[in-house]
Amino acid sequence: MKSFFGPGAIAALLTAADIAAAQQTPFSISSTDDIKKTASILSWDLLQYYKGNESGQTPGLLPGPPPVGPYYWWEAGAMFGTLIDYWFLTGDSTYNDLTIAGIQFQTGTDDDFQPRNETLSLGNDDQGFWGMTAMLAAEENFPNPPEGRPGWLALAQAVFNTQASPDRHDDTCNGGLRWQIPPTNKGYPYKNSIANGCFFNIGARLARYTGNTTYSDWAEKTWNWWAGVGFLDAETYAIYDGADVAVNCTDINKAEFSYNSAVWLLGAAYMWNHTKSDVWKTRVNKLVDHGLETFFPKGIAYEPTCEPWGTCSTDMLSFKGYVHRWYATTTQVAPFTAAKILPVLKKSATAAIKQCTGGALGRQCGFKWDSGKYDGVTGVGQEMNVLGAVSSLLIGGSKGPVTNSTGGTSQGNPNAGANPNSFEIPVQPITAGDKAGASIVTIIVVCSTVSLLGWMSLGA
Ligand SMILES: *[C@@H]1O[C@H](CO)[C@@H](O)[C@H](O)[C@H]1NC(C)=O
Ligand SMILES: *[C@@H]1O[C@H](CO)[C@@H](O)[C@H](O)[C@H]1NC(C)=O
Ligand SMILES: *[C@@H]1O[C@H](CO)[C@@H](O)[C@H](O)[C@H]1NC(C)=O
Ligand SMILES: *[C@@H]1O[C@H](CO)[C@@H](O)[C@H](O)[C@H]1NC(C)=O
Ligand SMILES: *[C@@H]1O[C@H](CO)[C@@H](O)[C@H](O)[C@H]1NC(C)=O
Ligand SMILES: *[C@@H]1O[C@H](CO)[C@@H](O)[C@H](O)[C@H]1NC(C)=O
Repeated sequence: MKSFFGPGAIAALLTAADIAAAQQTPFSISSTDDIKKTASILSWDLLQYYKGNESGQTPGLLPGPPPVGPYYWWEAGAMFGTLIDYWFLTGDSTYNDLTIAGIQFQTGTDDDFQPRNETLSLGNDDQGFWGMTAMLAAEENFPNPPEGRPGWLALAQAVFNTQASPDRHDDTCNGGLRWQIPPTNKGYPYKNSIANGCFFNIGARLARYTGNTTYSDWAEKTWNWWAGVGFLDAETYAIYDGADVAVNCTDINKAEFSYNSAVWLLGAAYMWNHTKSDVWKTRVNKLVDHGLETFFPKGIAYEPTCEPWGTCSTDMLSFKGYVHRWYATTTQVAPFTAAKILPVLKKSATAAIKQCTGGALGRQCGFKWDSGKYDGVTGVGQEMNVLGAVSSLLIGGSKGPVTNSTGGTSQGNPNAGANPNSFEIPVQPITAGDKAGASIVTIIVVCSTVSLLGWMSLGA
């Protein structure tokens, strides 16, 4: 019989999280080889959440959306972008086939990333994340899809064209994209920085990749509208979340999220790379200064609007990885930012791996990087963040994003995405015999819509 004060009793008082927090991370980033090895394990751990390559599962989806599982449709699109960067930076092609299959399965009937299954969570930002992933595949010369499938460039052009359509740009608040696409979605009356930031980002990158000025004109116009409506603070360069069209966007929600900083910074950096203009250089510098101060207050990635209270949603728990990846690419396309950004990304990645001590294998990552301790909760966002931070450390050794005149091989289609409303299910002529059935279907659809909406959270 053990004495009451014996070691067993003390161990029993410690929670699993305490034990994990006391452990040492198995990861190292002290050499290129260590970085690659660490990234390889992190990518494997991340892929444990993905079942889309297994029989009976849907390619391109993470478990979800709520209440079925934690992840909305867009996050898988973001994950494939993380995996494309992982391949590009490390050379490890283990996940390429699964990535190609997953992206291609989710392109929707019109190959514009508006699959009808996802209409309930189809925001311009959700579609935009898949579009940015396709754009990245073109820029990094990711293996092209099989014959007969749309090229990465064509997919990015499709997203751009649907979002540039007059259907998406009404006069409320003087222009700009709404958050949601279908008017029936919760969040349709909101115009915000992330939806417009994804559109701006894709436009800037298509302009550089193709040289077509239609894209840069839209990027300029989007920036001007967004700054003009007050979502960009002209003094501080803080980026605010968004506002309601009912009051002409005068009730600005001043919450700052790190992915807004990163998506606008990267787009502005591409605009500078494309134009070499001092106007864009100044904007890039101001975004970097405000972004580093706000989202890396101790030199470590931090989500100020939710992290201090532990209120980050599943979406928000994935932002740090985009910030690391997009800030890293910024240093390539706008090299004058490298001296400021790179040391911070390194310090932040060092903190990131330190807290990866959770789970059965003692290496799952949490979200509170600046605490130095595993916080007891892991998931796709937490793993993907650290993978993005670690693989981005190899940015200096990689060649930058290509264009179609510097080695890009992706097949484009400037006319892709001609139907901005392709997410709508076509109305079939109803015969008398179908009517009873149709009303039952309507009731079921309405009920499940309402219960899904109850679960939707603000964010991407
Ligand atoms: C799915 O991908 C993971 C990660 O590469 C792999 O471990 C697993 O075996 C794959 N499953 C199937 C059925 O191919
Ligand atoms: C849409 O949902 C159906 C039913 O679950 C599934 O069979 C199909 O593969 C899904 N399509 C996409 C693109 O996810
Ligand atoms: C690059 O794209 C532009 C616009 O689509 C096209 O006019 C041009 O021919 C392309 N250049 C090459 C080298 O493919
Ligand atoms: C709505 O806001 C825009 C942009 O801030 C402004 O230019 C416009 O005059 C406003 N319209 C009305 C009716 O107040
Ligand atoms: C533009 O971006 C490319 C790709 O990363 C980079 O090699 C090039 O140096 C950049 N241009 C300038 C003027 O810095
Ligand atoms: C430029 O892009 C626009 C918008 O997608 C398209 O309509 C136009 O045909 C493109 N021009 C060229 C030369 O590819």
